[in-house]
Amino acid sequence: MNIPELHLPTLDQDFIKDPYSTFEEYRSKTPIFWDEINNLLFVTRHKDVRNIQTSKMFGTTHSHIENFEGDVESSNVPLTYVGYKRSEKYESYDYFWKSEQFSLLNLEGTMHKELRGLVAKAFLPRSVQKLVPFMEKKSKELLSNTNGSNFDLLKDYAQPYSISIIGELLGVPASDHAKFLDWSHKIVKMYDFKVDDVDAMNAENAAKDFFDYAQDLLNRRRIDPQDDMITRLSQVSENDVRLTDHQIICTIILLLNAGHEATVNTLGNGFYGLLSNEKTYEEVSEESSTMTDVVEELIRWDSPLQFFQRYVLEDTEIENFKIPKGSKVAILLGSANRDPAVFENPSELNFNRENKDHSSWGGGIHFCIGAHLARLELEVSFEHLLKKNLLLKTEPERTGAFGIRGYENLLVTT
Ligand code: HEM
Repeated sequence: MNIPELHLPTLDQDFIKDPYSTFEEYRSKTPIFWDEINNLLFVTRHKDVRNIQTSKMFGTTHSHIENFEGDVESSNVPLTYVGYKRSEKYESYDYFWKSEQFSLLNLEGTMHKELRGLVAKAFLPRSVQKLVPFMEKKSKELLSNTNGSNFDLLKDYAQPYSISIIGELLGVPASDHAKFLDWSHKIVKMYDFKVDDVDAMNAENAAKDFFDYAQDLLNRRRIDPQDDMITRLSQVSENDVRLTDHQIICTIILLLNAGHEATVNTLGNGFYGLLSNEKTYEEVSEESSTMTDVVEELIRWDSPLQFFQRYVLEDTEIENFKIPKGSKVAILLGSANRDPAVFENPSELNFNRENKDHSSWGGGIHFCIGAHLARLELEVSFEHLLKKNLLLKTEPERTGAFGIRGYENLLVTT
């Protein structure tokens, strides 16, 4: 069977405003389509998105097979191994490449398993749980500064809230948080569909500053250990294998970027969802037994991350369509989350929904390693924000990006 051809207008602002009606149309037509302009195969349905997230036939890179500088079959490739060869995407950007070389998101197989195992040891639920009083305090403090006024829920609340929590967890001084915000914004621009030369150069410069800064912080923690995650990353070991400086720095950068942008955008998208659906604290409390349900439903309803790419590692099929090895597919998380085959009345916010198997946290080996932290951060925030009975001041503008879905601002009034 020939794969149908369609186009996802990922740069069109009307589409970015509401991608869900296009998803609905395409998903009902076909589970997969070829997009000539974006040069990608897109996967639309929940079942196939889940399958791709969890199947070994799909990987976040194929360079570990095509370009690996060692024995792929070996089950005990040491963690200190030089890694995969550099792919074209990073050709002109030395620091961006260096900062991504050991990003868990880009690794597969034994390398991923070993690195993830060590990072998870430094990111235990109890170290995250210990942050709840800090989250409560920070949230109240930021909201009390806004009393009796108009404010931007993203810039005045979500961003400083989320950056202070990840900073606290890692052990990054508060005086440096603004720098991180700036670096993080510049670096994540590299993950969208089209990146112009100016944005790419800004990302490269930000990656250099970030890399040097993280190295310096790590050196200081080795000399003077603290109760923080950078110290724990420098100490964890498994069978006498430890993380190298390069691996720790890539992990710090990944945790700050991944841990910040998606959380901020979930707060913005989710809170807009509550306001536009006129959900009050009382109604939400009546409909749902816990804030956990509220968070899961809001993140299903408008996912802050809309797509991830995977390489096909062996010839395979998606619903009888043949997909050759080496193809690149993009899984549409927002489309999977609104698939009526899985979620009844998927466009409705329903905090009583029993099925919580949405794809916003990913799945399989790359399942979000920070989900426990993000869930707690979001629960504390939505509880506090809902109790303030905020009103929307003006209709918010989208940032203009498709992949990382968020608002430019969210002006509200107390
Ligand atoms: C609402 C907030 C968040 C959302 C929606 C989210 C979503 C995701 C998704 C979808 C993936 C899978 C990517 C893939 O399939 O390739 C992922 C991976 C990851 N996330 Fe999150 N995330 C959030 C918050 C966080 C936080 C707070 C942290 C850490 C502080 C974090 C760290 C990571 C890391 C390190 C990975 C890579 C895991 C791996 O490849 O093994 N995320 N996240």
